Amino acid sequence: MSRIAYVNGRYVPHGEAAVHIEDRGYQFADGVYEVTAVVNGKLLDNEGHMVRLERSLGELQIDMPMSRAALGVVLNETVRRNGVRFGMVYLQITRGVAKRNHPFPKNVRPALVVTSKRAPLLLDPDAVPGGRAVTMPDIRWGRCDIKTVSLLPNVLAKQKALDAGAYEAWMFDPDGFVTEGTSTNAWILDREGRLITRPLSNNILGGITRQTMLRLARENGIEVIERAFTVEEAKEAREAFVTSTTNFLKPMTQIDDAVIGNGEPGETSRRMLGLYAAYCHEATAA
Ligand code: PDD
Repeated sequence: MSRIAYVNGRYVPHGEAAVHIEDRGYQFADGVYEVTAVVNGKLLDNEGHMVRLERSLGELQIDMPMSRAALGVVLNETVRRNGVRFGMVYLQITRGVAKRNHPFPKNVRPALVVTSKRAPLLLDPDAVPGGRAVTMPDIRWGRCDIKTVSLLPNVLAKQKALDAGAYEAWMFDPDGFVTEGTSTNAWILDREGRLITRPLSNNILGGITRQTMLRLARENGIEVIERAFTVEEAKEAREAFVTSTTNFLKPMTQIDDAVIGNGEPGETSRRMLGLYAAYCHEATAA
């Protein structure tokens, strides 16, 4: 099946999909995006993604290009046309096309692009591989809560992690507290068996997976504390993991040179992934 993309009102072959060279997303990274998981051919937690999208757009004073319901139709149709049962759907909205000039252009329609692709479903708690996180200073801007396509510091940090043979970079603020991963939220399990993750602020993206994990933990009697933790604390944690739409939950079994626990995905990490897997199937059944 050939890939199809949605570009400003039209479904076109992926290879021919294009936007104008003066799209402000291309010139200024003046736009936002969302990545939603597709499970059993359905959008997972799309409501949460739409709420976050509208918030990101609002912060940048970009209008929704269509109603939330119409956007839902486009997302589902793009998934269907690409025959995706398990994978993701990506949407990007930019301020639109205008002569390059810093001020917001007048009377410009926001541009919308949607793509969808298959991906392996990593939901088996007994098969989830651990990975290593390397830590580095967070050099991003002061509004990391906005899901903007301006991701250069994230890209540089991720590449640095890969070059060091690691899976993810955990970035830390000037006081040594972990903010988040380059495309994931960061969690640890402390010695008392409590999950710890940084509270929402302008310094991190409010992950939809994070939100669901918090709810599942609390519903299942696993204590969670939303507070910042240091790199040192993370290295001494009993378990560590990251969450995101594309990873769901991935254990971090090493942070820099410190081995976490016994170096294998921990019990609580695997339990949380199991709870999440059950929720995914339940939320997308029938
Ligand atoms: N990234 N933090 C950052 C900086 C992110 O880019 C992401 C998501 C997350 C996790 O958010 P969520 O659980 O809603 O996916 C946290 C997406 C997947 C990406 O850029 O591909």
